[in-house]
Amino acid sequence: MLDIKLETKRLILRKPKNSDWKDLLEGVGEYDVAKMLLRVPYPYKKEDAKKFVNKVIKEWKQKEPANILFFIELKSEKKVIGAIGIHKIDKFSGVGTTGSWINKKYWRNGYMTEAKIAVNDFAFNKLGLIRLTSKVFKENKASNATQSKMGYKLEGLMRKVARSLASGRLHDEYVYGLLKEDWKKVKPKFKSFL
Ligand SMILES: CC(C)(COP(=O)(O)OP(=O)(O)OC[C@H]1O[C@@H](n2cnc3c(N)ncnc32)[C@H](O)[C@@H]1OP(=O)(O)O)[C@@H](O)C(=O)NCCC(=O)NCCS
Repeated sequence: MLDIKLETKRLILRKPKNSDWKDLLEGVGEYDVAKMLLRVPYPYKKEDAKKFVNKVIKEWKQKEPANILFFIELKSEKKVIGAIGIHKIDKFSGVGTTGSWINKKYWRNGYMTEAKIAVNDFAFNKLGLIRLTSKVFKENKASNATQSKMGYKLEGLMRKVARSLASGRLHDEYVYGLLKEDWKKVKPKFKSFL
């Protein structure tokens, strides 16, 4: 069973608890969040949130999970304000894919930047990965900007490749990659977060 907890100045990245469903419902139940994600139904219901929390709790019980999804707790409010995951973990190749969201009420406070710093360090220094991939809908300004800010390199555009369940819309997606050596170079820029 995995028991990893990452701590930053303002956040705790941890496995979910059953009671987190309410915060999940508030965060992902917002259309502006759901429409940028792949498989979130809209409207998002209490049952959807509870089912999802259970699924993630089960994943955390696996010995070698292919997905590690951290719930992001804001220390000052003891509230889950987002999630960030490393998915499709392939230890043999040393790669994984990231995905994330933050509750709309908390956008633009640097929380995703702070969470990504912790997750990049964890992926490269603890999990032993050498590359993280991130796929972002072409029109998602905030997320595309976040990837560039974190040192991800734009590697291509996949056309009409992903449909959002919430909006029903088919999207083009940008593909980004962050190598361990890219992260080493970029990390000092985030001194104020450490
Ligand atoms: C993308 C998302 C996670 C960013 O979270 P956040 O906590 O607001 O991000 P941060 O405050 O750390 O900002 C990181 C950078 O993103 C960019 N950014 C964030 N919001 C932006 C916006 N609305 N417009 C343009 N750029 C934006 C900025 O460059 C920012 O850095 P800066 O403040 O130093 O300029 C959040 O907007 C979100 O949850 N969106 C909906 C779900 C989603 O898109 N998930 C990602 C799917 S790929």
